[in-house]
Amino acid sequence: MYTKYFTLQIVSLLISSLLFSSEHKEAKELFTEAKCMHCHNTNDFQVRKNGVSSFAKLHKSVQACATNNNVGWFEEDNHNVSRYLNHEHYGFKQPPKLEE
Ligand code: HEC
Repeated sequence: MYTKYFTLQIVSLLISSLLFSSEHKEAKELFTEAKCMHCHNTNDFQVRKNGVSSFAKLHKSVQACATNNNVGWFEEDNHNVSRYLNHEHYGFKQPPKLEE
């Protein structure tokens, strides 16, 4: 009985981590390659007073930083990296992933 429940838990964990890797893998790679963390630490990415307060504002910040740092991202890269940061840190309601 318990074993069966435990197995189900493991299987659902595996599935959710697989889903994560397909959904955010490229965005995570882009983010790492763009060296965003040279200026940022994870404390920067959270809902703060006077900070970003929606997915749209998060997207604007990502776009601004990507442009200022000449990382050469396309619009879908800005979008998907915003989704990745949102998933990891902010938790706003977000639009679906854009395919490249
Ligand atoms: C040269 C330093 C620098 C680099 C590199 C940089 N940023 Fe920023 N970023 C900033 C500064 C400074 C701010 C604060 C601007 C403000 O709040 O007015 C900021 C703000 C942000 C915010 C808003 C944070 C919040 O919750 O208020 C996000 C998101 C962000 N950057 C993402 C990125 C991403 C993605 C990259 C990589 C492409 C990146 N940044 C690279 C300097 C940098």
